[in-house]
Amino acid sequence: MTVPTPPQSVTVRVPAKVNVQLGVGGRRADGFHDLANVFFAVALGDEVTATPADTLRITVSGPDADQVPLDGSNLAARAARLLARRHGRRPDVHLHIAKEIPVAGGMAGGSADGAAALVACDALWGTATPFGTLLELAAELGSDVPFALLGGVALGRGRGEILEPLPAGGTFHWVFAVADGGLSTPAVFRECDRLRDEAGTGSDTAAVPDPQPDPALLDALAAGDPVALAAALGNDLQPAALSLRPALADTLRAGADGGALGTLVSGSGPTCAFLTKDAESAATVAAALTASGTCRSVRVTHGPVPGATVTGRR
Ligand code: C5P
Repeated sequence: MTVPTPPQSVTVRVPAKVNVQLGVGGRRADGFHDLANVFFAVALGDEVTATPADTLRITVSGPDADQVPLDGSNLAARAARLLARRHGRRPDVHLHIAKEIPVAGGMAGGSADGAAALVACDALWGTATPFGTLLELAAELGSDVPFALLGGVALGRGRGEILEPLPAGGTFHWVFAVADGGLSTPAVFRECDRLRDEAGTGSDTAAVPDPQPDPALLDALAAGDPVALAAALGNDLQPAALSLRPALADTLRAGADGGALGTLVSGSGPTCAFLTKDAESAATVAAALTASGTCRSVRVTHGPVPGATVTGRR
């Protein structure tokens, strides 16, 4: 009988996400918010490569590399430790993150790296963890990590971690405007609560109705209809992101004036997302955003795409 040789390196590609609907309910007793969160995975993504090492070590390359923590707080490091503990082994691995997803940008870049590290370490260590267990470990790491494993389009309930895959009838074309500096997700949720309190509506679960997925949005996704999807885009965190970063309104306006069908802040921001009619229109919108000088960089991409996937094994 031949024993398979363990791989010397495993590379995993993982997508960023945009929330085409982010319905935010009231603040729960545990501080989280119940969501109706329609996740959409885009081709813009990171690559995580796992190789054997004497100790757990993280390195990062890419435009935002200097903003990524290399210590134990890095979600890829936490993922390696969590998986290792589950299998009663040491988390000794070198994880290299080739980072393309904006850091603290509202595109779940840290969560993506956590999901990719789970898949990469599992393949490198030959631990053959069932997908359902990987999803459970992902939910322990953070609300957005399970979706980065699943990819495609999915409805996230609870704090975002309870996923139901949704049908998408075609490819949608997106442009993302990356802002200078990030926004802290907890700070944006706090600002959302503060704005609700200020408006007199209240911010806890007794005061805020349970958010529901918008049937028109789900139909538009299933039909692959970008015009209908643009009309249904919605993000309850957008007023909070704009309150903390008023200049984002200029970015959103520049994309709309440049011909985007729909505009929204991505998740908790500050990255702004622009849905376009097709690839050609995406290039036009990207040029308009670049010319506007209202953002640090502009990325053209498409989706939906699969979740964390092994792309290389040596
Ligand atoms: O789960 P994750 O660590 O990604 O969440 C980061 C922070 O975002 C939480 O600590 C919380 O402040 C906020 N959050 C929330 N409700 C959610 C998800 C995240 O309030 N459903």
